[in-house]
Amino acid sequence: MKEPKTNKSALAQTSPFPIGLNIDRAKGSYIYDVEGNAFLDFASGIAVSALGHGNTKITEAIKKQVDKHLHVMVYGEFHQKAQIELGTKLTSFLPNPLDQVYFVNSGTEANEGALKLAKRYTGLTEIISFKNSYHGSTHGSLSVSGNESKKFAFRPLLPDVKFIEFNDIEQLQEISEKTACVIMETIQGDAGVRIPSTEFMRALRIKCTETKTLLILDEIQCGMGRTGFMFAFQRFGIVPDILTLGKALGSGMPMGAFIAPFEIMNALSNNPPLGHITTFGGHPVACAAALAGLEILEEEEIIKNVENKGALLETLLQHVNIVELRRIGLLFAIELSSPTAVQKVVKYCHENGVLSFWFLSCPESFRVAPPLNISNSDIKKGAEIIVEALDRL
Ligand SMILES: Cc1ncc(COP(=O)(O)O)c(C=O)c1O
Repeated sequence: MKEPKTNKSALAQTSPFPIGLNIDRAKGSYIYDVEGNAFLDFASGIAVSALGHGNTKITEAIKKQVDKHLHVMVYGEFHQKAQIELGTKLTSFLPNPLDQVYFVNSGTEANEGALKLAKRYTGLTEIISFKNSYHGSTHGSLSVSGNESKKFAFRPLLPDVKFIEFNDIEQLQEISEKTACVIMETIQGDAGVRIPSTEFMRALRIKCTETKTLLILDEIQCGMGRTGFMFAFQRFGIVPDILTLGKALGSGMPMGAFIAPFEIMNALSNNPPLGHITTFGGHPVACAAALAGLEILEEEEIIKNVENKGALLETLLQHVNIVELRRIGLLFAIELSSPTAVQKVVKYCHENGVLSFWFLSCPESFRVAPPLNISNSDIKKGAEIIVEALDRL
C-alpha cells in the first residue's frame, strides 16, 4: 500500500512565523531533524525538558504504565496507583500545609482550577494579578495575564481583575478583605525573567495573610528545580496557599497540578460537588513519567548543580552587545539593544545548531533555558555559538 502523503497544512498554526524544524528524534540535550542535523536544546521546549530528552528511566516508566492501563476514568473517581504515588512523592517535597494535589492536563488548566478554588473557598470574586504576567491562554488564565496585546481580541474576559506593578511593595495596598486571591508567577517568565525581592515576597505573604486573601504562586515555568530550588518560593522563605505547576512536572508528558491544603482544596468537592472536572487530568501515563522525573531529580541530585551550571553559562556569555543579563538558576533572559538584534541572534543560533527562543512579553530579550542536567561541555558549546551571534551584531 502507498504511504499516505503527510500534509503539514492540515495543522493549525499559532503564528505566521513558526520555526518549522522537521523533527525526527531527540536524545539528551539534543534534538535531531529529519536530515540528521543536531540542535543543542537551549530552550527545553519552554522549560519543559528539564531532564533532557529520551531519559530511559522516564521512557521505561511510561512503557510499564502503558502495559498496565491507560485512561480508566475521569479524574477523582477511581484510586489509581500512578496518581497516588505521584501525589505522595510530590507532596513529600512540599512544606506544610500543601498536602493535596489536583492533577490536570496543562499549566493553564492548573491556573483555572486554582482561580476557581480561590473564588469558591473565599466566596469573593476580586482577583489581583501583576502587570506583564503570563498565566496561560484559556479565558480565565488570559484574564489574569498582564499582556494586553494578547487579550484585546478576546474580550469580554473575567470581570473584577486588577493589575498591580510587580515587585512594588506600595502597590500591595490594593489587596484587601475583598480580594479572593492574588496570582503571581514567583519568577515572571515570559515578561523576560523578572525576579522579585525577598522583601517584596515577604510583604506580599504578610498582606495576604492579614486580609485572608489566598496567595496563588504560579510555578509552571519556574518550578521543578529550574531556579536551583525545587520550588522557586523556597528561596524567599514563604509558602503560598495554592501552588500551580505544569511544564517540567510531566517530564515530557502533558500534566499540570494545583496544590493546596486539604482545608482549602476540599471546597471543590461540595456545593457544588465536582467543582472542577477534568476527564484526562492525572493521566496515568503522565503520572508515571512525572514520578520517574521526580525520582531522577532526587536520586541524581540534579537541583544541587543548577546554580553552578547557570553561573558557568553566565560567565561564558559576557559580551559587550548584551544590555542586561537576567538569570535565576538555569533560566536566562538576555537583553539586547532591540527586538531586531534579538531576532538576528536567535536566527543565527538556530542556523548554527543552538535552539533558543523568544519571550511573549519581552521582545528585546531572548530566552536561554537548557535542560537542568546539561553537561558543562554542552554549556560551553552553546555559549560559543551565542557569542559568535553576538559578535555579528
Ligand atoms: C508561568 C506560566 N503559567 C502558565 C503557563 C501556561 O501553561 P500551558 O501552556 O501548559 O497551558 C505558562 C506557559 O508558558 C507559564 O509560563
